[in-house]
Amino acid sequence: MSANRTRTAGAGPEPHGEARLRDAFDAARRRTLALTDCLDDAELCAQHSRLMSPLVWDLAHVGNLEEIYLVRGVGGLPGVRPDLDGLYDAFEHPRAVRVELPLLRPAEAREYIAEVRARSMAVLADTAAVDDPLPRDGSVFAFVAQHEAQHAETMLATHQLRQGLPVLTATAPPRGEAADPPAEVLVPGGPFTMGTSTDPWALDNERPAHPVDVPAFRLDAAPVTNAAYQAFIDDGGYDDPRWWAPEGWVHRQREGWQAPLSWYRDQGHWWQRRFGGFEPVHGGQPVVHVSWYEADAYARWAGRRLPTEAEWEKAARHDPATGRTLRNPWGAADAHGDRANIGQRHLQPSPVGSHPAGVAPCGAHQMLGDVWEWTASDFTGYPGFRALPDKTYSEVFFGSDYKVLRGGSFATDPMACRATFRNWDLPMRRQIFAGFRTARTADDD
Ligand code: AVJ
Ligand code: FE
Repeated sequence: MSANRTRTAGAGPEPHGEARLRDAFDAARRRTLALTDCLDDAELCAQHSRLMSPLVWDLAHVGNLEEIYLVRGVGGLPGVRPDLDGLYDAFEHPRAVRVELPLLRPAEAREYIAEVRARSMAVLADTAAVDDPLPRDGSVFAFVAQHEAQHAETMLATHQLRQGLPVLTATAPPRGEAADPPAEVLVPGGPFTMGTSTDPWALDNERPAHPVDVPAFRLDAAPVTNAAYQAFIDDGGYDDPRWWAPEGWVHRQREGWQAPLSWYRDQGHWWQRRFGGFEPVHGGQPVVHVSWYEADAYARWAGRRLPTEAEWEKAARHDPATGRTLRNPWGAADAHGDRANIGQRHLQPSPVGSHPAGVAPCGAHQMLGDVWEWTASDFTGYPGFRALPDKTYSEVFFGSDYKVLRGGSFATDPMACRATFRNWDLPMRRQIFAGFRTARTADDD
């Protein structure tokens, strides 16, 4: 099931022992409950967008997946409510119709997931007692914990789409010792190690490690800001088919896009709606809520292009001085604190330059956190890919339909945010916390 979990001593992060996994499950559950305890039953059961599930679906779905893979799967125990599998199977019911299903009520859902959690933690204690570093099943526990953490980001996107008064509060990200990033950085040509075979937290699509030769390129030192994006808008970028991929232009026409999702124009000024409140668009923050098509059009307008996924990962991980490939821009440690704006501590991206402690060896800022970054690449498996725990997490999405996003956002849990982590979505989607940076091949100077 996970024979690729070999580990090089000292080369990677801590393995996921029982205590570390328990903390991860606790942290994910705290978020799940924080995002659902703040709304009444009517709001939890309502459809806030056809693109999203009712929050009460996510609430029980995370427990159902945990019951399937940990209680019944690893534990081999009888299920808590096996009769619920169909209701909470994401493939059986598209998001747009989940509101019509006979879902558990919020109180029932909370009780259900608490019961599953009690049993899955008992399974974890038993598994760990075998006295080895969870060689076979540890990856499944890490997967299930990250699954709940990922749904917390999805649920936050639902909060962003919901109408009504604000229910979530958070402080603005601190300015700290902000730096002024250069326009772009040079990433020298040559091979680097893409993906990982040793990171115990890596999901199936991040594996295995493999060398990729990436020619020299220049990358925006920071994500594209609202101010830069506004120049594209002001220059008529949304009305000029020259900048748009043909399918992108079709979507722009059909949807009437004129600005990122959640932007509103009032008396010549742009405002954005954030979790129920309105604020002026902040020029120094990375742009967020743009589709791949908009990112692609902006890049063409700017005389540039989106980076490939390999370029993005090389910029985030490779140290040209030593020739080594790191786990994260600063080394093996998880993203936290000053290094990146992640974990829903602040419900908005930090202005560019806010995290000098998180700069990558090539000089790129904010590769992790703030906004997901669209890449030019389709979502596919690395050479030697093996599905874990099965093909439903990644493999069924491989192909040319989905584009890869990298880096995580302010809404991403630190346990699901690292330089190898791969996210994917359809190129017309704008409700996720996605922005981008641009690149150019470096053979022109
Ligand atoms: C990795 C964010 C694309 O939400 O569809 C959640 C994560 N997979 N449940 C998604 C996921 C199954 C996935 N993304
Ligand atoms: Fe899911």
